[in-house]
Amino acid sequence: MRLVNVPLTGRQQQLAVLSEALAALRDGRGGCLIVEGPAGIGKSRLLTEAMAQARLLGLATAEATSAELDRIVPLHTLLTALRSGSPPVLDARASRELAGRLDNRYLVLDSLGEAVAEFAVHRPLVIAIDDAQWTDELSALAARILIPALSTSPVLWLLGWRPEAVSAPIAPVIATAVAHGATRLELQPLPEAGIAEFCRHALHAEPDPDLVELLGQSGGNPFLLEQLLHTLVEEGRIRVEDGTARTAGDQDAGMLLSPSSLAAISRQLTALGPLARRLLDTAAVLGRPFTLHEAAGLAGVPMSHLLEAVEETVRAGVLHPAGSELAFVHDLLRQGVYQMLAGPVRHALHREASVILRSQGSSALETAEHVLRSARKGDRHSVDLLAEAAQPLAERAPGTGAELLLHAVRLSADHDERRPQLASQAIRMLAEVGRLSDCHRLAEEILATGADPDAEAAIRLGVVDALKHAGRNAESAEAAEKALQQPGLSGANRALLLSVQAHALLYDGELSGLPRADAAAAEAIALGSAESAAPAVVFGRSARSVAAWARGDFTAAVDEARQAVRLAEEQGDSAARRHPALWLGRALGAQDRLAEAAAVLEAGQREARRLGTAWSYPLWHYHHAELAVAAGQLQDAATEAEAGSAVAEQMEVSALRVPLLCLSAEIALRCEGVQAARDLLDAARRLVESGVGLMPEDLAWPQAMLQVATGETAAAYATLADVYRALPDRQVLPARDPANGPALVRLALRAGRRPQAEAAAAAAAGLAGREGSTECAAAAAQHAEALLRGGRHGGRLLRDAVEKYRVAGLRPLALAAALEDAGQAAQSGGSVAQALADYREAAAGYEACGAVQDSERALRAVRALGARNAATAPAPKAGWAALTSAELRVARLVAEGLTNRAAAERLFLSPHTVDTHLRHVFAKLAVSSRVELTRLVVLHEG
Ligand SMILES: Nc1ncnc2c1ncn2[C@@H]1O[C@H](COP(=O)(O)OP(=O)(O)OP(=O)(O)O)[C@@H](O)[C@H]1O
Ligand SMILES: [Mg+2]
Repeated sequence: MRLVNVPLTGRQQQLAVLSEALAALRDGRGGCLIVEGPAGIGKSRLLTEAMAQARLLGLATAEATSAELDRIVPLHTLLTALRSGSPPVLDARASRELAGRLDNRYLVLDSLGEAVAEFAVHRPLVIAIDDAQWTDELSALAARILIPALSTSPVLWLLGWRPEAVSAPIAPVIATAVAHGATRLELQPLPEAGIAEFCRHALHAEPDPDLVELLGQSGGNPFLLEQLLHTLVEEGRIRVEDGTARTAGDQDAGMLLSPSSLAAISRQLTALGPLARRLLDTAAVLGRPFTLHEAAGLAGVPMSHLLEAVEETVRAGVLHPAGSELAFVHDLLRQGVYQMLAGPVRHALHREASVILRSQGSSALETAEHVLRSARKGDRHSVDLLAEAAQPLAERAPGTGAELLLHAVRLSADHDERRPQLASQAIRMLAEVGRLSDCHRLAEEILATGADPDAEAAIRLGVVDALKHAGRNAESAEAAEKALQQPGLSGANRALLLSVQAHALLYDGELSGLPRADAAAAEAIALGSAESAAPAVVFGRSARSVAAWARGDFTAAVDEARQAVRLAEEQGDSAARRHPALWLGRALGAQDRLAEAAAVLEAGQREARRLGTAWSYPLWHYHHAELAVAAGQLQDAATEAEAGSAVAEQMEVSALRVPLLCLSAEIALRCEGVQAARDLLDAARRLVESGVGLMPEDLAWPQAMLQVATGETAAAYATLADVYRALPDRQVLPARDPANGPALVRLALRAGRRPQAEAAAAAAAGLAGREGSTECAAAAAQHAEALLRGGRHGGRLLRDAVEKYRVAGLRPLALAAALEDAGQAAQSGGSVAQALADYREAAAGYEACGAVQDSERALRAVRALGARNAATAPAPKAGWAALTSAELRVARLVAEGLTNRAAAERLFLSPHTVDTHLRHVFAKLAVSSRVELTRLVVLHEG
């Protein structure tokens, strides 16, 4: 009797979900589906069926199965997938080009994303990754970035994995995907009826109840079911008569199958001859499809001796040919064989494998896994190999690189002179992937055993950077202080430490940090210049620029940042990667040079993308958003802030989400209302509570404005009490927006805090009185003074302020606020007509900026005067008319068939901004694909 291949059994519901997703993809809608369940439950099988269906539907496919022993090679899984289809997403040339860019993982992923998006413009694409629990780190990062980035493209991701692999690089990616709407298909064991059906198909006979019960030992796991049936049939323990399958003789079921699959496998293997067993043992260690040549080398026998063994194992259904290679029929069989190897044998075989593969031309990277599984302490050769393998991973897959280096450190002899250097490299890589506690532990361990001053400095600097990167600014500043105490520290390292410390002090959550930050920065600049340490000078000048800006000295802020930019341009490289243009943009904005600031940011952002400096990506969006607020374009500002927050999440720099979420909250409060703002603030607060540092004003300001909006004036004042106290030495809020000056006065007055109102007005006057001050700063000072004075005089000052804002022609929201206050002054003075005119103009001004909530407040004031509002239709929230001009531009380009990146290049925006715009367009037009969008655009524009 022979077993017949069983058609897919008992997965109708899952198949229906998959079919639906494929049909949607054909209509241009992408998505992400996760197929999960334990080993042998049928994930691969389901994915195979889905891919066959995809091909029938004419969809393009790209597929790969990750292998346990490939997880060290960066991008292995995804590249395999993208080269697999016909035609493949990446042809040989594209793959080569991509491989050439591997030195910066974000640049590679950028090109990869563009290649996929471009491909999908012409043909919807299914990307299937099976056994994703073994996916290498860079492929996992790619999925993390590309799944959301391609969500508006016709790309469907199918990921199969075993969820018990909680520490796999893919695990957090899947969690995020699910949180963003990916569908989970959890495969359950087959029920009794399913087992019977399986059996019916396999034996072409109806199983009797005893047989079904016996097969129930498989727990409904199809793999075990198959193995069990195979064993029973091989051993002649199933009889088929008159179309019914029965068990033959006495069945000691307990003997057949222990709870693990091992027993089933071992029964199948014990029948094999010794050479066949040897072949399987070596094959299990190699861990992926292998050539006979490799196996013979490892088994230590001539190739010709193995031929018979190969036939035997193929006949037994354990191995099967895969192209020119051989593979296990199922990886579970391989794992079974592997687990049955005695420890020392396994060890020796891995060691042998590393030597043989290396001698056959495999790279250090490709053999590293064997070294990991076989090396012993003090083994110099292995330490060298791991160190060599880790080098190229620094930029490509730092988590994996760190893991190899950690092993190298552990394996190196205690007196090995390379230890500190290996450790400092490991610390850098651990920092990149946010593994702070491992960083600390390693640093402590190495420093305790002693290191020379340079190595010690590198280790300490690594820790300082790691903390800074994670947003733990106070701790970073403290660690820097400790590092600075180290005797024998070189000047260059000292300068670098000081520059990082200066930045950390700026964002350590304290209002009092400015002078210290400034002093550290000044020292970094002086020392860095003497030592020609350009990155330290650039970063130091950036910090000084921020400190000057926060003091309200915008001329100095521009000057410092400009010098930093010049030096970074001259020096390039790591100096350029400090991106001082970020702070130049902000300083220029504070001087009301909005267009110039936008140009600086745009050029800087392009440079950052060229260099692939991912940490900076969210910050460009932040500063763009701030400028858009200044220009009164709140929808665009919201889009930028949202894009920045999304990028920060994708790039795993969530510390930067804090200011972005706070800014989003501030904007949401003006546009959408209290609830939206509250949600965003809660998200920001959670991050702050987890230890992320910030400028205190970032969180306090939107929080206070929210309290004002809900009528909690005293609480709002309390939120900002310290900020008032820090005036006039620290003026972060007026630096961000001159209109914040009058707002501070207004709040203090309402809270009955006249001295603080006076302090705020004096601070605004101080800003206006500085050399190089702007028209808007003068208007703001007058506005603030007017509120303080009240009465007729105040009213006159307000008129002046309004005129000044008008003349400046910038900052329409500040103008509207002045008009609203002017309306109130007029109302108190009894000139109702004037008050009405002011309120109405304020409302229209707010409305034009998208500040719906502010506009409604002004209109309420109109109604309170007994007047009626001109019947203006509320701005539409959905439909074609609701699109902003930026959204319209994006929609048109996408309808022309451009990818997000191509559209971004045309519009001088970042692809993330385009992506966010496009999502808003989809939502407003209630479409979910580029195809539908194109149809609508054609309909509207002919
Ligand atoms: N629903 C099913 N109907 C019929 N056969 C099935 C079914 N599910 C799985 N099989 C068969 O059972 C075996 C194991 O399934 P599969 O390889 O898909 O498991 P898996 O979940 O991918 O396991 P792993 O986690 O080890 O990759 C395969 O031979 C497959 O063809
Ligand atoms: Mg599988």
